[in-house]
Amino acid sequence: MSGLTGIVACETAISSIENGVLRYRGYTIDDLATKATFEEIIYLLWYGRLPNRLELTALKQDLLESAVLPKKIYDLLHLYEPWGNAMAKLRTCVSFLTHFDDEVMDHSFAADHRKAIRIMARMAAIVAAIERIRTDLEPIEPDAIQFTSLAEMFLWLLKGEKPEPLAAKALDVCLVLHAEHELNASTFASRVTVSTMSDIYSGIVSAIGTLKGPLHGNANEQVANMLEDIGDISRVEEYIAGKIARKERIMGFGHRVYKHGDPRAKYLKELAKELGEWRGDTRWYDMSAKIEQLVFAKKGLMPNVDFYSASVYTYLGIPRDLFTLIFAISRTSGWMAHILEQHDNNKLIRPRAQYIGKKHDQWLPIEDR
Ligand code: CMC
Repeated sequence: MSGLTGIVACETAISSIENGVLRYRGYTIDDLATKATFEEIIYLLWYGRLPNRLELTALKQDLLESAVLPKKIYDLLHLYEPWGNAMAKLRTCVSFLTHFDDEVMDHSFAADHRKAIRIMARMAAIVAAIERIRTDLEPIEPDAIQFTSLAEMFLWLLKGEKPEPLAAKALDVCLVLHAEHELNASTFASRVTVSTMSDIYSGIVSAIGTLKGPLHGNANEQVANMLEDIGDISRVEEYIAGKIARKERIMGFGHRVYKHGDPRAKYLKELAKELGEWRGDTRWYDMSAKIEQLVFAKKGLMPNVDFYSASVYTYLGIPRDLFTLIFAISRTSGWMAHILEQHDNNKLIRPRAQYIGKKHDQWLPIEDR
């Protein structure tokens, strides 16, 4: 089947999508989006159940203490060209982190969980440092500030000041919504990688490389490019009609699994509206809502998780080429859960291919070719 559409490639107890309902460990995304924090999601995904107060506090403490980066990561970040691709920078940094972890090849349950916490916390600190160093600002070290969540820490490290509670809360909801999504392309890549009994870092690096593509995680940045191109609500109709006439893809619409709407999109839409009103500028939200209406009317396609995230991140003042990196920070929780599940009951993932090329039974000597 082209693109493995509809193929069940593994069993998992981490998340499910059935009849358009997304659940993490059996809890619906509706409950999680409105009631859970990102740290609760991390615990739920990794340990299979919701944490009690003590367990949540301990996990938070571990995450926050683990966010401090090895000094040489900052040296590496200074070597990058400021204009270099931010996802490629993140991918290299995560690979580089391998060299500072003496438990890399220990695949025991306890060591895998310790590494998961280290990587999760450090990714957020790395993304913020990428931005600060490329804009000639001093990076802020996580142990120099007091924060209560990864979302708050990230925004603070990025901007150099304590974020408004609404901004931290909005980002937290985005992290919850992007955390896990069954056997999406990047998660599959991470499972394939660690099924060779390679290490967790390699699994995350494979996943980042896969998320980077515009048909997957990079769609959010492409949506922002589209909204900027359109510029004003008066141009939406002509712009979308042109795209449809040229048979171009409209980023942030359609989904391999959801054919009747992505259940995460409505929460991002609400957030985009709320943040736009908070910022006193609903232009991007208004254009997005109009695009949604037109694309549904003309193509029957509905927005996916990436569509309204573009406006949410823009209202949060996050540079556009970091959108996919935020997706990566969040999805690391899901990637990790799958890597841990794969290691727990490993079988090498090695499918077959149907050969459709020619057969040559006679060797052709070089002088006869
Ligand atoms: N704009 C225009 N047409 C589309 C779109 C779109 N966004 N999505 C699907 N279609 C059309 C497509 O042209 C095809 O039409 P036809 O049968 O006439 O050739 C039909 O719908 C089926 O599309 P497909 O590409 O075969 O379906 P798929 O399941 O392989 O694609 C998808 C899923 C997400 C790659 C696709 O919908 C797409 O390219 N969307 C835009 C990129 C995007 O937003 N990606 C984010 C996905 S969700 C979060 C994530 O994974 O990061």
